[in-house]
Amino acid sequence: MHLGRFNSTESINAVGAFLKTAIIIYESKYGNTEQVAQEIAAGMEEAGKISCTLSKPKDLDPAEVTKFDAILFGCPVHMNRATRGIRGFIKKVGKAGIKRKTGALFETYMGTHNGKAIESMKAVVRNKVPGITLVSEGLSAEVMEMKGPLHEAEALTARDFGRDLGKKLLE
Ligand SMILES: Cc1cc2nc3c(=O)[nH]c(=O)nc-3n(C[C@H](O)[C@H](O)[C@H](O)COP(=O)(O)O)c2cc1C
Repeated sequence: MHLGRFNSTESINAVGAFLKTAIIIYESKYGNTEQVAQEIAAGMEEAGKISCTLSKPKDLDPAEVTKFDAILFGCPVHMNRATRGIRGFIKKVGKAGIKRKTGALFETYMGTHNGKAIESMKAVVRNKVPGITLVSEGLSAEVMEMKGPLHEAEALTARDFGRDLGKKLLE
């Protein structure tokens, strides 16, 4: 798993041609969505020969995203929708010329099940990045309070979500 600032040359060379690659792009104000992103990455890598890179939109050139087999987007629910940063980044990815990619979305929310960030990211992906095929309904993970922590079951659920996604990517 690659964390922090994304360096395409290093990670692609280290990965080798036989591996599938995934990039998980997320925003996280308090760290909970980041934790979900890390669990999804761990689950995907457990599924087989997959290498995951995690990045925040501000650290990533949208053109780099074209190099990966799978593209995931995640963010917390803010005011009943996805964060402005992730929506803006998805639009930029759309301009980079994405073709035949596997995709999935995830969110963290507080209180009753929400789904609103996934819904708004889904609309942007469908309208602006038709080259990404979403292969799951997406993962909604609950936080206990505004700043977290994650509900205790959610880390395992995120890992399972990643594993299932990994299997689909390797099919
Ligand atoms: C400005 C703001 C608006 C929020 N609006 C919602 C909301 O509409 N619905 C909801 O379920 N949670 C809402 N939350 C709670 C966030 O979902 C929660 O802080 C987030 O899941 C924590 O994830 P993070 O640690 O990755 O930031 C809001 C939080 C903030 C800071």
